[in-house]
Formats: sequence, C-alpha cells, structure tokens
Amino acid sequence: TTVAVFFGGRSVEHDVSILTGLQFLDALDTELFEPLAVYIDPQGQWWCGEALRRRSSYPLSGEPEALGIEPVTLPVGTALGDRPGLMVARKGLMGRSKVETIGFDVAVPALHGSNGEDGTIQGLFEFLRVPYAGCRPLGAAATMDKHFTKRALGATDIATLPHALVARPGRGTFLSEEPVKAALDQQMPGWAFPLLVKPRRLGSSVGVAPAADMDALMAALSKAFRLDDAALVEPLVANLVEYNVAVRATETGPVTSAIERPLHDGPTLDFAAKYRAGGGGPKLDDGPGEGMAAAGRALDPDELTDAQAAQIRRDAAAAFALFDLAGSVRVDFLCNGETGEIWLNELNTIPGSFAYYLWQAATPALGFTDLAETLVREGQALS
Ligand code: DAL
Ligand code: MG
Repeated sequence: TTVAVFFGGRSVEHDVSILTGLQFLDALDTELFEPLAVYIDPQGQWWCGEALRRRSSYPLSGEPEALGIEPVTLPVGTALGDRPGLMVARKGLMGRSKVETIGFDVAVPALHGSNGEDGTIQGLFEFLRVPYAGCRPLGAAATMDKHFTKRALGATDIATLPHALVARPGRGTFLSEEPVKAALDQQMPGWAFPLLVKPRRLGSSVGVAPAADMDALMAALSKAFRLDDAALVEPLVANLVEYNVAVRATETGPVTSAIERPLHDGPTLDFAAKYRAGGGGPKLDDGPGEGMAAAGRALDPDELTDAQAAQIRRDAAAAFALFDLAGSVRVDFLCNGETGEIWLNELNTIPGSFAYYLWQAATPALGFTDLAETLVREGQALS
C-alpha cells in the first residue's frame, strides 16, 4: 500500500505543514506501507521525489533535476484509471518527454489551513475518487470557518464565547469606528474591552491580536483584514488558561486523548510560542519532537478538576460528532483560571504533528506508528 502524504501548501502555515508531513512519513510502518512524499510549494506547484523527505531540502532551491525532484502535472484518480496517481513528464529517448504516472493507494492530507485543512483538497480527492485519510469536505470546511463553527456550536449545549463577525470594508472604503461598533452592539450586546480579534479562517494564531481600547481594536482589525476578508471579535478571557484534547473515531464512538495545557510565556499562544519555546517560528532541521510536538505542555494537568476534564472530553467528542469529523482532530478550549469556566474555542481537523503526542500520552496509549496506521486504514474504509 503506497501512502501519498501531501504537505506544504499555499497557506500561512506552509512551513508547519512540512514538519507535520515529514513526521507522518517517518512514522509510517515500512513493513506495511510505502511512503510517498508530495510537496506543494508556496506557489501551489506539486512535487515528487525522494529528496522531499529530507528537512535540508527546504526551502527548495536549485534545479529540480539536480535535486532529484520532479513537478507533478496532474493528479489522477480512480475516476480516470484503476489506481490514483500523479502524472509527471519524464525525459524519454532522444530527449523527448513522455508522461508517466506515479501510482499510490491512499492520500494523507497533512496540510494546515487554507487549501488543505478547509475541505478543498478533500473535495478534489472526492471528485477524483482518491481514497484519503481524515475529515470529509463538509467537516473540514465547516471547522475552518471560526464564525460558522461557533454559530453551529451555539445551537448545542456546548459552551462557546459570544462573538461578532466584522467584514472587511469594500474596495476604496476606509475602515471606520462606527460600523465596527454597530456590528459589536448588534451581535454581542453589552460587549466591553478587552477584546480579541482573529481572522475568520486562519490557523496557528496568525493575525490574532488582543485589543484594550478602540484604537487597538481598529489596528487589530486592519491587520486581520490583510489576511482574511472578515474577522471575529470576542471577549478576551480573563486569567486565560488553554486546554486541548484530541479526538478520533472508533467502532464504539469517539475517544479522546490526554488533555494538554500548552506552556507559553505570553498571555496567548502565538505563532512563535507554538513551534519554538522562546520564539523564532518553526525550524525544519529540528529532528524528532519538532513542530507542534516540540512546544512545551503539561499533560493531564493537576489543576483541572474531574468535572472540568469531563466537560472538555464530552464537548470535544460532541463537537467531533456534530461536524461529522474523522482522523485525529485537536479541539482547543479556553478557560478562565479564576472562575473555572470553559469554552470550546476551535477545532483543528489537521492539527500540527497530527497531535500524536496526545495519543502517545492517552490511556490506552497509541504510538505515532499505530496512529498513522489507524488514520490510513480509516481513510481507506471511509472512501
Ligand atoms: N494549525 C496548527 C498547525 C495547529 O492547530 O496545530
Ligand atoms: Mg488552530
């Protein structure tokens, strides 16, 4: 069984995705699976080749031929042939090029954020009838949109923070205070500073900023509007503590992993804190325990009461079911450390490192190699 792992991609989380993809490839049991790396560069070009499994190959530079990689011209599904594949143009006799297909059996999207975690590549796989791991298009798309996620959760008894959606003003229109205030008054009556602004659809905390007053709010919004065409404004939780848990499906229903409290210095977990303790962003040559797995964390932390842990597990599993999810999904919660109140913040359908470190610490424990096999087999069964 050849497992094609897709990573990189046209999103602000491109570098993190390289780490997740390479980690997954390394975790595959080579007695069972043949790993195939498929890298999508920031321009959207797909590439194949052994060199793509080396961290030192990134960012790609030099002649593809010298690197031993080749551009993919077209993905092929079982809708067209008997096996999914990737078309590449190879030099044949007399320098003439001929098209060949590199076959595979199941795809694993290891893409974070836009164009990958959002249902787009899942839709392509559906269209081409390529078996693939993880969420189906609906769940991936619904949970990528923070506004939609929270509106849907609002129809259940899962606790989420109130929010207002503010749209980017049209071309040639300046962002001004009045419409922003009106949107807040209408959607979040009784709102007060401090607030938190986040782009509607990005991940890895990119573009997220707190606002203590109107000036800061306007600055945070204009920053968010450079990344997305709408932003969420929600109350900034006092005494903020974050908790995350992973969920996956089993024959007897969704199960949850160990709960983590991510460790960081700042008031919120920003991009740098997520991937490097002390900042600096993701590093491609870190070796094991890199990417999301390298960020510090407390596992099943002592301060969490049984009731709180039960709420986190129950709400995470209920949200997983609500959005009809699959794969290893990390559900992130916000908590007021003083009052103990907990709100579901967001769902990550392709979490960094597939959250393997949470499954490793789960009861019963599931190692990354077994998790990878589980995800591949589930993908084959769903497709
Ligand atoms: N979006 C990043 C990769 C995460 O949530 O893990
Ligand atoms: Mg996220």
